[in-house]
Amino acid sequence: MNRTDIINISYDHPGHATSSAWARVPLAPAPEERLELIARIRRMLTLQDAVLVAHYYVHPDLQDLAEETGGIVSDSLDMANFGHLHKATTIVVAGVRFMGETAKILNPEKRVLMPDLAAECSLDLGCPADEFGAFCDAHPDRTVVVYANTSAAVKARADWMVTSSIAMPVVRHLAAQGKKILWAPDRHLGNYVQEQTGADMLLWQGACVVHDEYKARELVELKVQHPGALVLVHPESPRAVIKLADVVGSTTQLIRAAQNADARVFIVATDSGILHKMRTLCPDKLFFEAPTAGAGANCTSCSHCPWMAMNGLQNLAQVLETGANEIHVDPAIIPRAVLPIRRMLDFAKTINLPARGIGNV
Ligand code: 13P
Ligand code: SF4
Repeated sequence: MNRTDIINISYDHPGHATSSAWARVPLAPAPEERLELIARIRRMLTLQDAVLVAHYYVHPDLQDLAEETGGIVSDSLDMANFGHLHKATTIVVAGVRFMGETAKILNPEKRVLMPDLAAECSLDLGCPADEFGAFCDAHPDRTVVVYANTSAAVKARADWMVTSSIAMPVVRHLAAQGKKILWAPDRHLGNYVQEQTGADMLLWQGACVVHDEYKARELVELKVQHPGALVLVHPESPRAVIKLADVVGSTTQLIRAAQNADARVFIVATDSGILHKMRTLCPDKLFFEAPTAGAGANCTSCSHCPWMAMNGLQNLAQVLETGANEIHVDPAIIPRAVLPIRRMLDFAKTINLPARGIGNV
């Protein structure tokens, strides 16, 4: 039995009182156990013809293992693309459930495993398919664009799926055709894209429990303490925080900015898991976490996604050894849900995205 901590989380559910969820976070293994688990995982990836596809927010051990074994650590667009193009018959997704579902929708013939199938996302939880369907039904004149952080059933109602790295060009492309957009679920990303493109967008009012916590006033104070620092912000953050950014972008885009900028000091408003890659790639630069609610705040104010934290070495080794935690998507949904994802991936090729991750470059 793995040792875990249970974290309780409140999240925005538009039209409802604040809803609650939980995350089951594995405790760190002892040093010898850690090494033994890493060796077991390496062996099992080969034996199972499996590739590990990890997000920048998961534990550094999993990020390193993914890269060292021929997999990838990347943003959600590159994760989808990499797993789709890789020849392995099993894709192991270290991330949250919508990432595993996207891999399965794109590769129904492959086995897709996840360390913990209960790894949720507040954006996905706050946008149930039936409520979202009613929203779409009420606005039939709008092109439906959904963020990757949604269930397969919500994607099946969409015309387009986007991730943070491609949302802007897709919406610009649609606006240029005179299309009015229905956007879901992240209100901050939706607002940001709307402001940048001038598109006519009707927004679902979801939010990310991690990014929603960044605080503009405290960020201004931190900037005063580090006058030369460059502020890197993920667009799921509140508008007031985005306004203070030097660079706004997806996780991959923020890492690239840290690599390419002349600045030596950075303030980072996205999940702290990303600092592992930033510090590895830029060992002579200094990275600070952007301020959240601060002292006395709850776990979701710790700049780390509680559901990404559910991915650990123990449960990764277990799923590879037992075949447990396979992702299944209703086969009746897949043919419809794959359309907005394929549309995005095809469009990405026309504008030279995705970047195939930072670490593998
Ligand atoms: P990226 O696509 O930028 O990696 O974002 C995914 C996500 O869940 C951010 O919270
Ligand atoms: Fe969802 Fe936020 Fe976690 Fe990303 S960081 S997976 S948006 S809850």
